[in-house]
Amino acid sequence: MSPFAHITGWGMTIPERVLTNHEISKMVDTTDEWIRERTGIRERRIASEDQTTASLAVEAALKALRVANLSPSELNLIIVSTSSPEHIFPATASLVQDAIGATHAGAFDLLAACTGFIYALDLAAQSIRSGSINNALVIGSETLSRFTNWNDRTTCILFGDGAGAFVLQSSEEPGGILSAVLRSDGSGGDLLSLPAGGSRHPASLDTIHKGMHFIHMNGREVYRFATRVMAQATREATEKAGLKIEDLALIIPHQANRRIIEAAARSLEIPLERCVINIDRYGNTSTASIPIATIEAVESGCLKRGDRVVFVGFGGGLTWGAVTVQWSGPILPKRKVYPKSYQIWVKIRSHVRRLIRTIEGIIWGSNFPEG
Ligand code: COA
Repeated sequence: MSPFAHITGWGMTIPERVLTNHEISKMVDTTDEWIRERTGIRERRIASEDQTTASLAVEAALKALRVANLSPSELNLIIVSTSSPEHIFPATASLVQDAIGATHAGAFDLLAACTGFIYALDLAAQSIRSGSINNALVIGSETLSRFTNWNDRTTCILFGDGAGAFVLQSSEEPGGILSAVLRSDGSGGDLLSLPAGGSRHPASLDTIHKGMHFIHMNGREVYRFATRVMAQATREATEKAGLKIEDLALIIPHQANRRIIEAAARSLEIPLERCVINIDRYGNTSTASIPIATIEAVESGCLKRGDRVVFVGFGGGLTWGAVTVQWSGPILPKRKVYPKSYQIWVKIRSHVRRLIRTIEGIIWGSNFPEG
């Protein structure tokens, strides 16, 4: 029988800087009341100058590994889901791999906008269930504040920064990731996009002048799409796992707009209390929102071992999806997975590898045949 993929560790990072609606109302023509009524958001967190998508991801990852009692070198795979990567390449996941010293892991980025964490969870779970790997790290990390047009009141009120990470591990014990539904409709790609910086519109004075490096959104259309797919994906994933909506302890939805979550709860005929909502404090942290909401549910005692939950998300692409999970927890006994000095050694290791590469370049560089 194929092994099961359990979520055995979790960690989140939220920047310290709080940006309130009141502050935004001094930047654009809006009010705290409007933002709260239309979105449910009161405040969001903004990364400091020295925080990046990779640095938030690293912090969340190390916390998750500590909960799982797993050493970074025991990881086989790292997936970073993000729409605000450090670069087009190298992948943010490779930077995270180096920074945490995951010396035996493959690493790649996954881009499915706010649905990315759902896609990444399913991919990691499939790799474990196939028997090809044992331990995976899935991270959702965003610094969308860097791509937000702070003069556009239709988008700048929505987004916030943060990261959440899960460790997934193989076990013969039934449970963990039970089912997944992944969907896309690229015909709606223009409804939510960051048009420039890729190969279609490489960076130029013109793209910058036109503000094409910022998030562009048709809010009304995205809202209509979201209210349609959230309940539908939740139902499909639940049925695929052989469960009924009544069997779910919680639904953990992507935090984009409180009204979208309310509409999904109505459509599923469940009380809103069964949906985890923390959008008031963080805004829309895109692919990080589901792990962050999950971790807060665990830490407040709302999500317990054995509970069955659905994670459901939607976003640019358009993409949407849901994953049914039987919540697990650590499967390894408590042990010191990395000492306090670990981070220093990992940094030294990275610098030494760069130095060796430079020396090799000097030695071998002169031996390259002339072109
Ligand atoms: N403050 C005050 N007024 C605003 C405003 C703001 N921040 N943003 C828009 N408005 C105005 C509009 O200009 C419009 O004015 P008009 O009627 O004079 O043209 C009016 O408010 C209503 O705009 P509308 O877009 O219909 O509002 P809405 O109720 O749909 O709320 C969103 C706007 C963006 C909050 C909502 O559409 C939404 O949340 N959409 C989904 C977005 C999303 O989830 N994106 C991420 C997906 S992962």
